[in-house]
Amino acid sequence: MASAPETKTAPARIPANDFRAQWTRIREAALAAVDRVGASGWLVLGREVEAFEAALAERWGLPHCVGCASGLDAIEIGLRCLGLAPGDRVLTTPLSAFATALAVIRAGGEPVFVDVDDSGLLDLDLAEKALEEHPEVRFLVPVHLYGHALPAGRLAALKRRFELRVVEDCAQAIGATSDGAPVGTVGGLAATSFYPTKNLGCLGDGGALLTASAEHDALARSLRDYGQRAKYEHDHLGLNSRLDEVQAAVLHDALLPALDAATARRREIAARYRAEIRNPALEIPPVPEGSASVWHLFPVIAPDRASFETHLDAAGVAAGRHYPHLIPDQEAMRGADPATLLSPLTRARAFAAREVSLPIHPHLDDAEVERVVAACNAWRG
Ligand SMILES: Cc1ncc(COP(=O)(O)O)c(C=O)c1O
Repeated sequence: MASAPETKTAPARIPANDFRAQWTRIREAALAAVDRVGASGWLVLGREVEAFEAALAERWGLPHCVGCASGLDAIEIGLRCLGLAPGDRVLTTPLSAFATALAVIRAGGEPVFVDVDDSGLLDLDLAEKALEEHPEVRFLVPVHLYGHALPAGRLAALKRRFELRVVEDCAQAIGATSDGAPVGTVGGLAATSFYPTKNLGCLGDGGALLTASAEHDALARSLRDYGQRAKYEHDHLGLNSRLDEVQAAVLHDALLPALDAATARRREIAARYRAEIRNPALEIPPVPEGSASVWHLFPVIAPDRASFETHLDAAGVAAGRHYPHLIPDQEAMRGADPATLLSPLTRARAFAAREVSLPIHPHLDDAEVERVVAACNAWRG
């Protein structure tokens, strides 16, 4: 009897994120959390948000946490807590999610930029020089990009020397430390995001502002809720930026408890990529000194990015770009004063032209990690 023809199935595509695998792991706890919220009859700003805020604050090591609707809002609210006035200049990085600069603009400020360092993060030497030359700049929004922590000691020294008001953008770096100090603890205001792709991603949008200051905590609570001090008493022109009870309950019961294991897996994968990707045509940017990174992304630099991306695609590996356009180059920034560029953006432009993000989500199995490594090593750049 003739045997059936052998059918070869191509290995499954390796996705940049795997929300279905996440759901399989959290389903039971998440459904129970949703059920509890539904049964409680209380859907906005209740016990679930309070419990999650307390849990995240404790874990982060900051006394206060204010749940918000997004990371974007958390940065805006943070800047408003620090007294940003219309037109105030805010130093930040040109290589980040557009939300970083958008938050500054929505708070009434004007973002100004210096170049990035070899890791792709704000260059603190250039920041120092720019602050010397531009004493009017009193606000800083450093971004702990890719899950790396910017050097805490350097940030603290800049803050002290120039009396800066600082909101740290920790959207990509929850749990990262610099010489043991958690991100977000230098400025005293840490903004983070629970957008699904983030290391602590929820089932929709969400964010939080963490702070050491009881005063900022109270103001942020008011600003996220139309600027109310008490029901129907409005001291400020606030936002509607409330983390809802369902997201808070799922974060608290299902996602936050899984964060340590997910971070450990990201670190394992990063260690393998760093040890095993041995292609002279690919450059792996260095980790900032002192950073215990949480590897939200794994950037590599490919001189011919299009060819590398085509190669990865043919090998069934999904890749990303973070970020292909610099913030000051965006169409929405048209008309931004060229004087907002406080240094040439040479390295940032090189990242924008050449960076490729390899998959590093915590649901990758070892065979998938090996396939990514093999695909990288097989590329003839
Ligand atoms: C560095 C950075 N800052 C801010 C944000 C904004 O967060 P959200 O999408 O929750 O508004 C993001 C996420 O997109 C981000 O990656």
